[in-house]
Amino acid sequence: MEQEWWRTAVVYQVWPRSFADSDGDGVGDLRGVIGKLDHLSDLGVDALWLSPFYPSPQVDAGYDISDYQGVDPLFGTLQDVDDLIAGLHARGIRLVLDMVLNHTSDRHPWFVESRSDTDNPKRDWYFWFDEPPNSWPSLFGGDAWELDGRTGEYYLHTFAKEQADLDWRNPKVRQALAQMLRWWLDRGVDGFRLDVISMISKDIENPWGFLGFGPQLHEFLQELHREAFAGRGLMTVGETPMASVEQARLMSAPDRRELDMVFGFEHVSLDHNLTKWDPVPLSLPTLKQSFARWQEGLGDGWNSLYWDNHDQPRAVSRFGDDGEHRVASAKTLATVLHLHRGTPFVYQGEELGMKNAGFAGIEDYRDLESLNWYRESDLPEAEKLALLRRASRDNARTPMPWDDSRAASWIGYADDTVTVAAQRSDPDSVLAHYRKLIALRHEIPAVAHGDFALLLPDDERIWAFTRTYEGVELLVVANFSSYEVDPGLPDDGELLIGSSGPLRAWESRVTRRAARSRDPARA
Ligand code: GLC
Repeated sequence: MEQEWWRTAVVYQVWPRSFADSDGDGVGDLRGVIGKLDHLSDLGVDALWLSPFYPSPQVDAGYDISDYQGVDPLFGTLQDVDDLIAGLHARGIRLVLDMVLNHTSDRHPWFVESRSDTDNPKRDWYFWFDEPPNSWPSLFGGDAWELDGRTGEYYLHTFAKEQADLDWRNPKVRQALAQMLRWWLDRGVDGFRLDVISMISKDIENPWGFLGFGPQLHEFLQELHREAFAGRGLMTVGETPMASVEQARLMSAPDRRELDMVFGFEHVSLDHNLTKWDPVPLSLPTLKQSFARWQEGLGDGWNSLYWDNHDQPRAVSRFGDDGEHRVASAKTLATVLHLHRGTPFVYQGEELGMKNAGFAGIEDYRDLESLNWYRESDLPEAEKLALLRRASRDNARTPMPWDDSRAASWIGYADDTVTVAAQRSDPDSVLAHYRKLIALRHEIPAVAHGDFALLLPDDERIWAFTRTYEGVELLVVANFSSYEVDPGLPDDGELLIGSSGPLRAWESRVTRRAARSRDPARA
């Protein structure tokens, strides 16, 4: 098996709760995913990243795992996972599991034991202190330290109090996790997406230490690589909020043997201050220059490329125009993302140009992060609801609209009209555009491997860049405005995407030519 298959791959993320519901209980499930695999092969993706389906009290939609080696009855059985692996592999698609190694549910037997007694052998699998050793906040509101009545000590929870942080300094913790990962690999999975992996090493003395990147991060990752990943031809992608380009390079440079790539957050942090509930305007130059810095700064590391996932609002609402120019802007966002260097990720519904949920009232929201913030914030009601409509994670957690039917669901449908059924055979659809971009990556080596150069860095409307590889130059030009623009760049190459001439509102174009040494802007 090719070792580095992920360099030319496109990954599709399924968040199983809202993907496809096979038994009509209102919650998506694994048999639902199995029933929709033709959608994935039709798109042409290489791998499926499946968000957590393990047994869980579902406080944080499954990111609070109470058994790493099982399946929550809500989602199905282990047999379903085996069938899913078989169904994917039969279509040449790999399976990447989502693994939450920074914390467990407070119902995980390890924590149940750990909290039972200060002398319990698993006491030091988690962080326990008789007084909070710092004043870290929880990222889901309130304090990161929870007093546990059983022993009168505090434990650490970076997220909800039902998500207790594992103490990775304990080698037994690391061994247990590595063993569990090997168990899944032996079952046939092809890689892992590692939840908040940059937080596994903590500097308790540091007031900002709750953001991770502690002193042993790289040591822990290298050990995990040796113990679980090495030599298996896997793909590993780490979720690394707040990583700098340099930190991302250290984690993804192949010779360091840590991870294959990480999810940077810089581009999804530019439209707000410290928290996403505090928005600031974002200019196109800021956004594209951030991408360019990562393209260049990662060196021998590797980029992951994404707009959407289960934690982010929908890109077409956030960076595009989800009104009049929804189709064109969804396509253009996809064009620029997929033409960068790295491994693109497509989150369910993104390939349709889905927009934010647009929920009207607080009773429509389900996510604990949103509900906690709503409860704690002093802002006026209308402002809070407006901010939820903009930034809540529920915006992208609505059911996948396969067709016009609106079966009962655990969360409402997005206020939206797109469906897979309507787009499947429409050559002008957003879906058809994603298909085209994915095929392009597989067919033209410059898309995956080419050198990157940003053009017109300060232009407020045009996002343009070249990718150059083995004598081939791709020129990508995209109009990020609602007006027709003549970008003043050549359009004489072989047209791969879009049309020649001035760019209409939110239109994008990709052309291929023989590489020239001169700056194409002046060619
Ligand atoms: C990651 C997940 C998010 C979850 C959090 C805690 O950021 O993507 O959904 O809430 O970690 O596990």
